[in-house]
Amino acid sequence: MNKRLIIAIDGPSGAGKSTLSKALAKKLDYLNIDTGAMYRSVALLAGQQQIDPQDETALKRLCSDMSIEFVREATSERVIVNGIDVSAAIRTPAVSLLTAQVAACPAVREAMMMLQRKMGEGGGVVLEGRDIGTVVFPYADIKFFLSATAAERGLRRYEELKEKGIDIDLQQTIAEVEARDAVDTARTHAPLKQADDALVVDSTHLSIEDVLEKMLLVVKNKQAELVG
Ligand code: DC
Repeated sequence: MNKRLIIAIDGPSGAGKSTLSKALAKKLDYLNIDTGAMYRSVALLAGQQQIDPQDETALKRLCSDMSIEFVREATSERVIVNGIDVSAAIRTPAVSLLTAQVAACPAVREAMMMLQRKMGEGGGVVLEGRDIGTVVFPYADIKFFLSATAAERGLRRYEELKEKGIDIDLQQTIAEVEARDAVDTARTHAPLKQADDALVVDSTHLSIEDVLEKMLLVVKNKQAELVG
């Protein structure tokens, strides 16, 4: 029987991480852990409870009191926090903004890291984030670092929002992508960083199907290596 692996997928926003980790987890019948959704959930609750994002003590308490669960349904994945489905609520622009702030808090990162390790330690998981291969699971069986140029990632985001009927400016969207990268990379605690032993996959000129195929091949080879 194939060993159930720990697979890390890191990279900047808009590189296709969430689509690919979901697709990969589904193909392998693994649990997909969207760690960005976990930080977003902390931000959602902090906003609801009017906690100052600089108040580390209050954020620490909030994290120790909360439960987060990922549930895969036939066509979607739900994020359940304290028993409530927050899948849509954590995706608003206001929550995105607050998330970047709470994700910089060391106590929040520590709490989320412990939760992620607990969820993933048994294997059979794909974890998607920024610091999985470097901090959370430095001994992951496979580490992917998914990248694409800021212009391409901005364009993808622009098209996604246009499709939803949201009127936005392409140049502004690209600038926002670059600004988020700068915050994620510059943060002192667990910044977005490529692990030395990560496999870099540049998706700029590739379709989702092409990238997924590349990833599945890496998984297959790893499993063969572990059996052999
Ligand atoms: O991947 P995302 O857009 O849902 O991430 C939301 C925010 O959380 C983003 O500001 C980066 C941050 N994040 C993080 O700091 N560490 C992670 N492992 C995942 C996300």
